[in-house]
Amino acid sequence: MSEFWDVLYGRRSIRKFDKSKPVPRELIEKILDAAIWAPSSCNYQMWDFVVVDDPALNEKLGKLSTQMANAPVNIVVSYGRDYSEEAWANIQSASAAIENMSLAAHALGLGSFWITQTGNPETVRELVGLPFERMVVAVLAIGYPAVVPKRAPKRRPASEVAHWNHYAGRPVPSSRAPKDWDLDLLRIYQRARVRNGNRHNKPKEWERDAVLAAFGQLRPPASPGAVLEALDLLPTHGLYTEILSAHHRDLRWTIADLSPEVLEFSTVRTAEAARGILWPFPEAQRFAQEGAPFPAREPVAEFDLAMALFRLENLPPDLRPRLLQTAFRALKPGGVLILGSVNSRSYQGTMEAVRLRGRGPKGVEYILAPDPSIGPFEPLAPDQVMEEARKAGFVSTASAAFHVLPPAAEIEWRTRNRRGLARALARPLGGAASLLDRWGWLRRSRGRLQFFRFEKPR
Ligand SMILES: Cc1cc2nc3c(=O)[nH]c(=O)nc-3n(C[C@H](O)[C@H](O)[C@H](O)COP(=O)(O)O)c2cc1C
Repeated sequence: MSEFWDVLYGRRSIRKFDKSKPVPRELIEKILDAAIWAPSSCNYQMWDFVVVDDPALNEKLGKLSTQMANAPVNIVVSYGRDYSEEAWANIQSASAAIENMSLAAHALGLGSFWITQTGNPETVRELVGLPFERMVVAVLAIGYPAVVPKRAPKRRPASEVAHWNHYAGRPVPSSRAPKDWDLDLLRIYQRARVRNGNRHNKPKEWERDAVLAAFGQLRPPASPGAVLEALDLLPTHGLYTEILSAHHRDLRWTIADLSPEVLEFSTVRTAEAARGILWPFPEAQRFAQEGAPFPAREPVAEFDLAMALFRLENLPPDLRPRLLQTAFRALKPGGVLILGSVNSRSYQGTMEAVRLRGRGPKGVEYILAPDPSIGPFEPLAPDQVMEEARKAGFVSTASAAFHVLPPAAEIEWRTRNRRGLARALARPLGGAASLLDRWGWLRRSRGRLQFFRFEKPR
């Protein structure tokens, strides 16, 4: 029986396959045998599996979604569209078969990757010749792994998600509006994010470049040989602090966050290990532990620089002033606060509207700024940010803004799984984007990414 647990714990989603190594059909047949032994609603077994190992056909699938371009075999899993619709038992049955196949593949020394983002399931259906009454539920890519993740992505422990007899927790909201969240819920959400590792959190390159350029322009200079004390207030995940610390070696970072897990994730990533403090105080005091490296406290007059990137938009509105007041208190007189925010008067709104109208995902985890997975989010107008900072006592001294239109790399990324118009528009729009970005006044009013430099008066 222990072999079962080895297979269960050892299975990983494989995202890079060795395409030069074909998978013998006998192995695929064993995998399909595992599929048909899955439970199905009423034992109807209304599934059909189309195994695609023809490279030409796989290439066509790969054009629909890059996720299907990685493996030598893609198994298209379909189920009777009009069977067992109640409680989505059709999808549940197909999913049971997919999980059986994933485990069987691992037991046979193969890797698998469960794909729901197929570009367009109806086109997939047509490409493999399935009739309309078969609904494509997902595609399972199979092949010999080229890269196996070193560690399993962390799981939310059973003690957190399992309840005996009666639910005893608090569900994390799926609302995208910050007003529906509180500190505890944000902490749970952030913790889930960092447990996911940095694959889903990586800043996109056009956002990373804007952050680096803005930070370079707005940061206070250090005299030669001197080190400035810098505070990152509520990092999204710590990956921006990592990037900035590598480019600005004269800063010593302290990271303030409400979750020990985010501090564990982020403090080790900076060029020199950062210090961590649990904040906001006193709420975060609950998470301070005897002997743990992260004390809960309010930072006071100890920093030359404070930074908060894309965090005001994420906090419930009544917490925004607290973040700014904390930054004010944390700075020495003459200290600098750098804020980054997404402009509500930019293409962000149009992009969100298009996304919400489309077929794609709409949940809180797919909010696109900076994307994906930033949680609750409400873009702010630049004057709103200025006003909030002024109320906390800051004086505005400089700003930088980027992207009146999405840059070419962003358009390409956003339309990566769409054909037709979006793809055709990508290049000319990208060209116009770099042209419009030359006008400073337009960038400051309409640019999507806004950065501000404020000073605490001496
Ligand atoms: C329904 C479903 C859809 C998924 N879609 C994607 C996807 O679009 N891209 C991706 O990289 N991984 C996808 N995955 C894989 C998950 O990211 C993966 O299962 C999770 O991170 C845990 O890692 P593990 O499978 O290696 O244990 C999907 C998994 C499931 C069950």
